[in-house]
Amino acid sequence: MITGLHHYALAVPDLGLADTFLQGFGLETGERSGALVGRCPGRDQDQVRMVEGPTKQLHHLSFSVAPGGLDALRERLERAGVAATDPPAGAPDEGVWVVDPHGTAVQLLETEPAPARAVPDVLHNVGGTYQRFDTPAWRNVDDVLPRRLGHCLVFTPDQAASTAFYVDVLGFAVSDRITGKVTFLNAGPGDHHVFGFITSSHPGFHHASYEVPSIDAIGVGARRLQQTGWAKGWGLGRHTIGSNYFHYTQDPWGSWIEWFSDIDQIRDCWVPNDWDVPPHLWGTPPPEDFLTNREPQR
Ligand SMILES: [Fe+2]
Repeated sequence: MITGLHHYALAVPDLGLADTFLQGFGLETGERSGALVGRCPGRDQDQVRMVEGPTKQLHHLSFSVAPGGLDALRERLERAGVAATDPPAGAPDEGVWVVDPHGTAVQLLETEPAPARAVPDVLHNVGGTYQRFDTPAWRNVDDVLPRRLGHCLVFTPDQAASTAFYVDVLGFAVSDRITGKVTFLNAGPGDHHVFGFITSSHPGFHHASYEVPSIDAIGVGARRLQQTGWAKGWGLGRHTIGSNYFHYTQDPWGSWIEWFSDIDQIRDCWVPNDWDVPPHLWGTPPPEDFLTNREPQR
């Protein structure tokens, strides 16, 4: 029923700074009912929503539900004894709102995800397969902008309670776990993960991740943001779980925004596993504060 992550929302103390940062990352920004919203160029869907608050804090998560699927989801909620709630202040009054076991507001929005901006094929000469002839790769990295929001990871103080809610009640499936540390969830065939949670002392937002057209787009996009003053990051590397190429830049509030490309695509036959591996196959180790949860206790 849930088809993916529709958008995420943060409360932040300075919407002007948020606007500059999101634009530097490559999103188009605007104002909607007093909130700052960001969209991927060429995609008709808000991907991030920011409202003013005293400190940075996860405000809500929004998941898209297949058209016609909301009634069945309502029944699942009812069976599990999860009551619908009002939206949090500053959030749109659409869809069904619930609260997860750790107090995060969750919107279930019956809508078809908007198509991502079309991009030309990216041709590679790798392995024993040669696709690109008489075309220099370095002359053809024109489109480096984010195409779509892929996933968010949040902090949880209780992996079992989060799994019970997001998997057993909402219907996500576990894709893989890093034992005791991270759970990655999928919403059916498609990206290896569209959501997940990382163990911490309390809830909070860790990162949002946007797909760009290629590994080169990650490098060029990250360098552009770096040149505007947002230098601290992690990458370039290739992840273990999900396999995507990544670069993270630390946002103005100590959480992270990620560019990704080449994430594993999974189908119904995918079998989840527990792993004890570092988060990256190659690349430098993450910064020391990569998993620091700076949000206040709720
Ligand atoms: Fe990620």
